[in-house]
Amino acid sequence: MKLKESIESVRKTFRADSDPFPKDIRSIEALRVKYLGRKGLLAALFSSMKDISDKERPLAGSLLNELKQEINSAFSVNKESSESNQVTHDESDYTLPGLKFPVGYIHPVQQTLDEVKSIFMNVGFSVVYGPEIDDDFHNFSALNFPPEHPARDMQDTFFIDSDTVLRTHTSNVQIHLMEEQDPPLRYIVPGRVYRNESSSFKSYNLFHQIEGLYVDKNVSFADLKGILTYFVKRLFGANTQMRFRPSFFPFTEPSAEVDIWSESRGQWLEILGCGMVDPEVFKSVDIDPDVWHGFAFGLGIERICMLKYGIDDIRLFFQGDKRFLEQF
Ligand code: DAH
Repeated sequence: MKLKESIESVRKTFRADSDPFPKDIRSIEALRVKYLGRKGLLAALFSSMKDISDKERPLAGSLLNELKQEINSAFSVNKESSESNQVTHDESDYTLPGLKFPVGYIHPVQQTLDEVKSIFMNVGFSVVYGPEIDDDFHNFSALNFPPEHPARDMQDTFFIDSDTVLRTHTSNVQIHLMEEQDPPLRYIVPGRVYRNESSSFKSYNLFHQIEGLYVDKNVSFADLKGILTYFVKRLFGANTQMRFRPSFFPFTEPSAEVDIWSESRGQWLEILGCGMVDPEVFKSVDIDPDVWHGFAFGLGIERICMLKYGIDDIRLFFQGDKRFLEQF
């Protein structure tokens, strides 16, 4: 009987293949596939059962089952030793340090923005945003910039057409707020601003500001000083020395700049501009300056971030260099 011979020959090759029985998982698996796999030698023998006569079938069947048992038991007998062997064959070194997956960092400008926002939100300011592309009225004339003011020059401002600019400051949103809502108002406005100047370590043609606007009855310069003193001490520390220095902005009167004392540099450093909203600004948005008063302030985020962390080149914020960013 041909099948009987085939069964014997598979038995022989299995005995040869499994002596010695393979030790590593991969060879064991290859052996298993060769004999017990879906397309393995045993499966081939079983499928040729259908080609033999009914008379021969019972004998062939029992021989085949015997072979199958022999092969199965060879695997289960060797299973235990091969599993314990696996440890010695495993080439992993569990004492190596684990893989470090790269994680992202919050950009220092965003961190400073978040910090400044939360300080003002704690004392009742709400956050709003405004347009980065705006008209001359909101960026300049409603803010009392005279027609010949240097900021209106092509050298300082990006013009889209003669009446449309990339905003040069977040102060444009003061005008939008006062057009759209009746006082009292208490807002801060974070956002990007643009200046048409050449890049250097201290200037870049894109940066971030936060504008503040507070309008109510009976608001005085003392309120402005109170809020900004609280802000400076929260951001730079309770012992920070600061001063209000008289200054000029077209849209505030009186105006001031705030400086903080830098111990390491031994000098005063300017951190923001502020002042009482100029009655001319109220008039341009139809708010009665005899009834309402207010103060405004504007601060540059990059500048504050540079002072806080001792960064000496503003361009670093815009280069996306991981070696810089991962320090924060
Ligand atoms: N807009 C000014 C600038 O970009 C900053 C500023 C100064 C804003 C005084 C104000 C302010 O609201 O009162 O330089």
